[in-house]
Order: sequence, then structure tokens, then C-alpha cells
Amino acid sequence: MAKITVIGSFVMDNVVKMKSFPEAGETVLGKSIELFPGGKGANQCVSVARLGGDVEMIGMLGKDAYAEVFRRILKEEGIASLHVFSCDCATAIAQIQINEEGQNRICVVPSANHCFDFSHLNEVDEVLKNTETVILQLEMRLDVTKEIIRRAHAYGVRVLLNPAPAAPIEPEILAMVDYITPNETELSLLTDMPTQTDEEVRLAAEKLLGYGTGAVVATLGSRGAMLATKEGATLIPGYRVKAVDTVAAGDSFNGAFAVALSEGKSAEEAVRFANAMGALTVGKAGAIPSLHTRAEVEAFIAKNS
Ligand code: RIB
Repeated sequence: MAKITVIGSFVMDNVVKMKSFPEAGETVLGKSIELFPGGKGANQCVSVARLGGDVEMIGMLGKDAYAEVFRRILKEEGIASLHVFSCDCATAIAQIQINEEGQNRICVVPSANHCFDFSHLNEVDEVLKNTETVILQLEMRLDVTKEIIRRAHAYGVRVLLNPAPAAPIEPEILAMVDYITPNETELSLLTDMPTQTDEEVRLAAEKLLGYGTGAVVATLGSRGAMLATKEGATLIPGYRVKAVDTVAAGDSFNGAFAVALSEGKSAEEAVRFANAMGALTVGKAGAIPSLHTRAEVEAFIAKNS
């Protein structure tokens, strides 16, 4: 059984680059349109694999050409995929806009990802019981994801939740999460608190800790990440890099964070490692194509420290 199991989404990203985002009702001319394989679950899983982690992917694809692309990637990356199911829905697609600063706007239509239901969860129960860490996002059905958290917690499996895209989650469920990795928007929605300044982020993270969440890693883009535990909060600075395309930076951060924890690193060391992986990701276009290898991340850290 793999040490790290990702239960999550596959999404084919339809990416349009443009000078600046259109306002509502406005038409702008784009610069390019490309297809890249992505999806938060798949991105996080491939990140773990490229960093040398022992990982299994669980999720749902359609029976179309995009599904074949993803199955080929899983094979090439050496990722265990016995429990990547197929359904009659289409493999999910996202529309992504990227402006000149590399910022993105994303809309995902869940399609096949939402066909993963409780019957599939029952089929993977043994995998869940026998893994060390489960990584989850919120692109699968929310009710199913919450049940995975309940079960993983009961089995003593470490739960790493990347609460994206943002959705409200009850405090009883958040209490069963060992590590949660929201960005400012997601943290604000989860806590109903402002998160515009570092102090506001710290206070919102404290609210989650008050629910019983083990540790909060608030990702703050180029500023880095704030790690908050019962012992206190530390802002761990990120790297200064030129952003070409920020898609999947949060995902590669999560994958790297999980790998570092699984190697016995402290949460603070894991955030430093994850900051480097995230920084490298923004320098390259596309989701899965922008994910770097262990050797590349280590060379980057050595050069920038
Ligand atoms: O986090 C980036 C990912 O979010 C993209 O690859 C897109 O598919 C959406 O799921």
C-alpha cells in the first residue's frame, strides 16, 4: 500500500492567455489557447510522484480521449491507479484565464469527478485504512469528501485537506483534519473572518485550531505561507520568482508538503520545501507540465539559500 493516497479530481484545463481579464459583458482578444492536463487531485498526486513519494491515486474519469491522456500520465509517472474508476460522464474540463501577470481565474465543471460516490468509497476502504496520509481537495462531492475525512480520522490516517475550491465545512469535520492548507480566500470562508493582513490570517488560523484542526498552513502566494499550530504562528517567506502561470502552484505546494512530512521532516521544514516547489511551478505554463522533479527542487533550494 502507498504511504500517500490522493483521492481527488482529474480535469483537462482549457487555458486562454490574455493581456488582462475581461470585465462582465466585455470581450477581449486572447493571445493563445492550449489544453493541459490538471485537476487539483491529479496535480497533487503527480507532484508527490515527481518528488519521489510513494503515492496512489483514487478518482474518477470518463471513457473519453481525455481519460486516456490521464491514464497514460499515471502510467508514465509510475503512480498506482488500480482505483481510478471510469463512468459514463465526460472527464472534467476547466476553463482557465491567465493574464499578463500570470494570475488565473478558473471555472471547473465537475462531470466525472462528481460520479465518485459512497459505493466507490466503500471499494477503496482498505486502501484508506492502510495508507499513512490521505490528501483531499474539494473538487469531488463534498458529502463524500467529508465521509473520507471521518473514516481516515477513525483509522488513524493523517488527513491533509486542501480546501479548494472554497466551501463551508462544519467545525466537527475540521476537527478531524490534521493539516489544512487554505489560501486567504478559503481561510476567510471557513472562518467567516477577514484575512487581508498577516495578523488577520493568524487570528483566522487560530479559530481553526480552536475547532481542533491539527495545524493550519495558510498559503499566501509570493509572500510564502503561515504555519499556525498550538505552539504559535510563523510566517515562512516564499521565493521571489517571475510568474508565468500560477496554475497548480498551490497543488504542487500540497504535494511537496505531504512528501516532506512523510519523510519525517517537521511541519516548518515541510513548508520551506513546499514553498520551493510552489515557486518553481509558477515559472512554467500548464498544470501537470509545470510540476518539477526532486532534483530540480533541490537544485533550486541550494541556489537560493
Ligand atoms: O489548482 C489548479 C487546478 O484547479 C487546475 O489544474 C484546474 O483543473 C483546477 O482544478
